[in-house]
Amino acid sequence: MNLIQLDEVDSTNSYAMRHFHDLPDCTLVTALSQTAGRGRQGRKWLSPPNRNIYASWVLRNIENPGFLAGLGVLHFLRANAPGHDFFLKWPNDIYCGRAKIAGILCEGAEYSSGRVVGAVAGMGININMSPGELASIDQAAVSLRSLCGHEFNLIFLLPSLDFSLHTVYIRYSKRPDLLFADWKKENRLIGREIVLAGADGLQRRGVFSGVAPDGGLILSEPDGRLNVFRCGDVHLGAECF
Ligand code: BTN
Repeated sequence: MNLIQLDEVDSTNSYAMRHFHDLPDCTLVTALSQTAGRGRQGRKWLSPPNRNIYASWVLRNIENPGFLAGLGVLHFLRANAPGHDFFLKWPNDIYCGRAKIAGILCEGAEYSSGRVVGAVAGMGININMSPGELASIDQAAVSLRSLCGHEFNLIFLLPSLDFSLHTVYIRYSKRPDLLFADWKKENRLIGREIVLAGADGLQRRGVFSGVAPDGGLILSEPDGRLNVFRCGDVHLGAECF
């Protein structure tokens, strides 16, 4: 995998989008610090220098880069913090217990007949943030350090991330159907009662009854209707974890 390591950048996603046409397929752009880290739904992504992994993966001819990035980061975390219970929270957040440890931001970079044929999958993974820094995030968050009780060497972790992403990529190239099945299996909240906060600002209550072939969340609403949502935030009552 082609690896680009930057010291500081506005956002690794913005960098990968700007240089998309010059970067080979599967390039991973990383930075030690982001001055304008971006999250889903227009939110900011807190990006203190030398603390976390900020990485963006350039992918061509892949219909749903979020599956690959979400599973890759999940395997990376399991490999580096064995014994902790990491899982995917739709669409591709990675949680441990009630707290988020990593998030994925996918952006379409190239389209053909209205379909995405090239994308950037950005990954923010909390590695060495202290409990104090984590407390400044507006939702429950953990880092590898807060879970494991020691700091990690960011530079040594990159080959491990690269390996996990590459493994997922190879599996997808051979059997995309099996990768989708893996992704579905790791979505811990399927079957649960949820509140979906949609991109339209509305909150909808219902049962997360499954995922559509494109990864959309199928919500079974109280009136019995099934609706598919492609973005939004899933919330649960505390008793659901
Ligand atoms: C989320 O909202 O959960 C997604 C967060 C994605 C953050 C990562 S950090 C690396 C890449 N560059 C960005 O600006 N955002 C993504």
